[in-house]
Amino acid sequence: MNEMKKKVMVSGIQPSGDLHLGNYLGAVKNWAELSDEFDCYYFMADLHTLTVRQDPAALRRRTLTQLAQYIACGLDPEKNTLFIQSHVPAHSELGWILNCYTMFGELSRMTQFKDKSAKNSDNINGGLFTYPTLMAADILLYQPDLVPVGEDQKQHVELTRDIAQRFNNIYGETFKVPEPYIRKVGARIMSLGTPTSKMSKSDPNGCVFLMDSPDDIARKFKRAVTDSDRENCVRFAPDEKPGVANLMNIYSSVTGKTFDEIEKEFAGQGYGAFKPAVGEAVIDCLRPLREETDRILKDKAYLESVYKEGAAKASYVANKTMRKVKKKVGLVAQS
Ligand code: TYM
Repeated sequence: MNEMKKKVMVSGIQPSGDLHLGNYLGAVKNWAELSDEFDCYYFMADLHTLTVRQDPAALRRRTLTQLAQYIACGLDPEKNTLFIQSHVPAHSELGWILNCYTMFGELSRMTQFKDKSAKNSDNINGGLFTYPTLMAADILLYQPDLVPVGEDQKQHVELTRDIAQRFNNIYGETFKVPEPYIRKVGARIMSLGTPTSKMSKSDPNGCVFLMDSPDDIARKFKRAVTDSDRENCVRFAPDEKPGVANLMNIYSSVTGKTFDEIEKEFAGQGYGAFKPAVGEAVIDCLRPLREETDRILKDKAYLESVYKEGAAKASYVANKTMRKVKKKVGLVAQS
């Protein structure tokens, strides 16, 4: 049988907080829809979280919860390679090598580095600075065609492409140069409290977590900041009405309705009717995910089997790339 080789996808999420609606709509939901078409590698980026101080027990708990959530969100471990980043040592190894092919100036320009150093001014460590080279290693090890991410990670994927091209120019074709894969709807979910900033776990009031109770979700949407225009009308105008546009984006992502359909549905009703309706739609969307996560989390042996098998499959592919890289740069092979 001459089976066509599937295209490859790779992506990860830091278990530095519980998964939120932005992670789900911007990343995991799209991943689940791609499982049949692509050969997919998805991991818990636990090494990345160490750039900011973590409580060790909480980090371990969140890493396993995140794995359970990946599965609950539709990532079938039979169809996707699911693993914990630190279980595949090739990530750190290639990360070091790529550091030596990445310029200080390039790393200094990264927006996430600037934002995080401003927020953690007492701990601007080397890992925070070289974070994008570890991310480049995470990606390039698997020779992917596409990297599905939200809008905020586009700059890191572009740097990954630059590093891959630079390496290939010096040593000949070694890495596939991947493209970022960013969906239009859901790629940038904003905070419910400050709709001009992206939804993030560091702003718990503006952030809806996948494990939030229905009451909490309803409350957060009722309090969502809409715009102080006098129009009080549900209309998609991101520059003029960022709060309403964000809620429309969320509603569209969870219901599949277009912006036109949403405008018609709420014509003449105002924000007072719209906000709780978005809350209800999000509750309906997240309820089965929360229940399934709780169920999977109880089965520790199953989770362990998933991450062990995932690490074995990922290591096989990653080590193949590592052998090629080591040979090219001049490291002596062990066997
Ligand atoms: P992280 O952990 O911050 O976010 C994980 C994924 O969720 C997306 N995302 C959002 N999408 C829409 N709206 C939001 N408000 C929102 N917040 C987060 C992110 O774009 C991302 O796709 N460096 C990465 C993790 C990483 C990675 C990788 C990703 C490490 N290695 C290799 C891809 C490939 C990060 O910090 O994402």
